Amino acid sequence: MLAVATALPTSAQEPEVAPPSSTREGVYTVEQAERGEEIMHDVCANCHMDDEFVGTFIKSWAGASVGDLFEEVSTSMPQDRPGSLRPRQYAQVLAYIFQLNGLPPGEVLMSSSIEELREIIIEGSQG
Ligand code: HEC
Repeated sequence: MLAVATALPTSAQEPEVAPPSSTREGVYTVEQAERGEEIMHDVCANCHMDDEFVGTFIKSWAGASVGDLFEEVSTSMPQDRPGSLRPRQYAQVLAYIFQLNGLPPGEVLMSSSIEELREIIIEGSQG
């Protein structure tokens, strides 16, 4: 497993409320997960079952960043038309995958910027 990188922002531009740094801290909204579910069932379900993205899948990504996962999925999926979704739709799909794994929603929309998502480390719901 990869070591968890704790790259804290050092600049004076740090926002007043620190953004979440782990998928356990509420990195997506309920609405994003709902949209993600629709996309998953419309676009991905031809080839994938939701179950594939639960448990072992998220554990295999633990320690990597949400940006890494976003980049992987947005450049390789859907396999027959890679990159065909909008960035915000990929974020919605990831939100749904996090929800499937019991990771909590929060108040702030998950970004669709890979750079911003690199600040969030993937952790499963329990260890
Ligand atoms: C046409 C079939 C097809 C569609 C549609 C498709 N996938 Fe895939 N997907 C695959 C295949 C085959 C693999 C395994 C081989 C690979 O990794 O390229 C895969 C692998 C994956 C992986 C594992 C990547 C990894 O490195 O762990 C993820 C995540 C994934 N798909 C997500 C999605 C999502 C999200 C969608 C919908 C936006 C989607 N896929 C649509 C065929 C598809």
